[in-house]
Amino acid sequence: MSQTIENQLNHRTIRFFKDGPVPEETLERLWEVMNRTASSNGLQSASIIRITDSKIKQELSVICRQHYVADLPELYVFIVDNRRMGKIAIEKDYEGDNYRNMDQFFKGWTDSCLMAQNLTNAVESLGLGAVYLGSILNDVGKVIDLLNLPELTFPVLGIGFGYPDDNPQLKPRMSMDFKIHHNQYQEPESYLEILKDYDEEMTHYYDTRENNRRSDTYTDQVLRSFQKDIDKRALMMQFAEQQGFDFRLTEELD
Ligand SMILES: Cc1cc2nc3c(=O)[nH]c(=O)nc-3n(C[C@H](O)[C@H](O)[C@H](O)COP(=O)(O)O)c2cc1C
Repeated sequence: MSQTIENQLNHRTIRFFKDGPVPEETLERLWEVMNRTASSNGLQSASIIRITDSKIKQELSVICRQHYVADLPELYVFIVDNRRMGKIAIEKDYEGDNYRNMDQFFKGWTDSCLMAQNLTNAVESLGLGAVYLGSILNDVGKVIDLLNLPELTFPVLGIGFGYPDDNPQLKPRMSMDFKIHHNQYQEPESYLEILKDYDEEMTHYYDTRENNRRSDTYTDQVLRSFQKDIDKRALMMQFAEQQGFDFRLTEELD
């Protein structure tokens, strides 16, 4: 097996880090890796805000509702950045507004996610650890203000990384048999039935892990995630429209 695959199969989220900084030359290498990531149409429509200001980290930790965010050695927020392309087009006398449309928005979104995962793989290959922060989307409006994000930009996710001060167990996954469909989508009679073993495995995992022990199952987690009150995260598209993106369909589907 390759070292890369071994690292990937050993992936676990790290949330607590040693104090020291990540050396500058390591950071520069990691930035090169992010820059080499595949990009939709080669348009490179993602950017990164690197947060070094401890006050901003602190405010992000409140938005994320996760105290450890304030102490992350390196903290990046990946953003859709169609502003850069819009400006290029305008300098080239383009008069339309297609840099605002949904397709361009999702190109920037996908580019951001790919860059983030490429960064994560590289970080883990160096023996460092990383945590994704979808929780920056708890309050998109506040993140936009805090990071001074202009029109045609939009936050996607955060990543924190550094030298691990944590050694969590591997978190079990449901079998790939339930995730790979052959040629056409197929469904079992009952998901609860086929996920029984996985639920048991997850119960054991939550019951025996070192941090945040609890009694839980995967299927209960799924249910709980839909029982929560709708919060500001559900308003994400409205914030994107405020940022100048236009999600209106121009033509009806057949
Ligand atoms: C898009 C995305 C957003 C995430 N957001 C958060 C987050 O806000 N806070 C956090 O502590 N973990 C976050 N995670 C980490 C997941 O909780 C974690 O990957 C999952 O529980 C599986 O655990 P593992 O990565 O250790 O295998 C996120 C992961 C992804 C892929």
